[in-house]
Amino acid sequence: MAALEIGRVLDNRQVARDKYVMDIAAPATARQCQPGQFLHIRITDTYDPLLRRPLSVYDVLFDSGIISLLYRVVGQGTSLLAKAAVDEAVDIMGPLGQGFTLPSENESIILVGGGVGVAPLLYLARLSRVRQCRVRLLLGAAGGAQLGAASRFEKLGVEVKTACLDGSAGYHGVVTDLLEHEDAGDYSRLYTCGPAPMMAVVSSWAQAHGLWGELSLEEHMACGVGACLGCACQLKAFEPGYAKVCTDGPVFNIQAVELSPDQARKEGHNE
Ligand SMILES: Cc1cc2nc3c(=O)[nH]c(=O)nc-3n(C[C@H](O)[C@H](O)[C@H](O)COP(=O)(O)OP(=O)(O)OC[C@H]3O[C@@H](n4cnc5c(N)ncnc54)[C@H](O)[C@@H]3O)c2cc1C
Ligand code: FES
Repeated sequence: MAALEIGRVLDNRQVARDKYVMDIAAPATARQCQPGQFLHIRITDTYDPLLRRPLSVYDVLFDSGIISLLYRVVGQGTSLLAKAAVDEAVDIMGPLGQGFTLPSENESIILVGGGVGVAPLLYLARLSRVRQCRVRLLLGAAGGAQLGAASRFEKLGVEVKTACLDGSAGYHGVVTDLLEHEDAGDYSRLYTCGPAPMMAVVSSWAQAHGLWGELSLEEHMACGVGACLGCACQLKAFEPGYAKVCTDGPVFNIQAVELSPDQARKEGHNE
């Protein structure tokens, strides 16, 4: 059975027009978190909204029992979350799902994150740096004001390259263009999270170069624990072809997931 904990909001600050970082004291959950896992958050004490909302573990300060979440306000649940005050209780279920496979000591890894999709990559970078890995992050956003996460990676000693759709910071264009300047042979692993069109390009690049990789999928979720099939997703590597993103994922090997490259051409992919 999934663990429950009532955490306490330590901070809930706006970091961009529609993005917030919430720090929560939740020592029991913090001890269990793996990079790439998510927390299922109950937003209110009432039945509106009824369902919990899944948010990735952004960062963990293990010794202080603090978990950070990075979230974009898109609807009712996240709007209410943005109003949570310091000291307010947060009802947490988790950590849930399968996280990223950690690299071994001294590996060289590349991370590609788009928009709020960068969230599950920070704790992965932190633990990889503890293992003396060289870590490079390619980070895409709509505009420079949305690149606040970059400094948190840089503080860990991660090499960060940025791309913005509006040209206000870093490379002017989509983050996947930055891959053209990367030599896949420099890395032993690739990890990515962001809009599906972005991950489609990243995944094709990695597979074309024979680079091992994992990606994190975002699906609409209800129960979060494998009971409702609300997150079922068609994957190549699963029999009879459907996986439950909440329990089989959200992290999957890139070879298991077929993302449409046509989608990549039609949509921008730094959001
Ligand atoms: C495993 C996992 C990890 C996630 N991690 C993060 C994170 O770290 N930070 C973050 O900002 N968001 C994350 N999300 C997405 C987040 O859960 C949704 O944005 C949130 O539940 C929306 O709740 P809401 O009540 O504000 O919006 P709603 O009112 O429920 O929906 C508003 C809009 O958002 C869309 N939406 C809702 N849920 C999802 C979803 N799961 N995927 C795609 N579109 C959705 C709806 O279709 C609708 O258009 C994650 C989702 C999953 C499945
Ligand atoms: S959300 Fe219910 S099975 Fe995944």
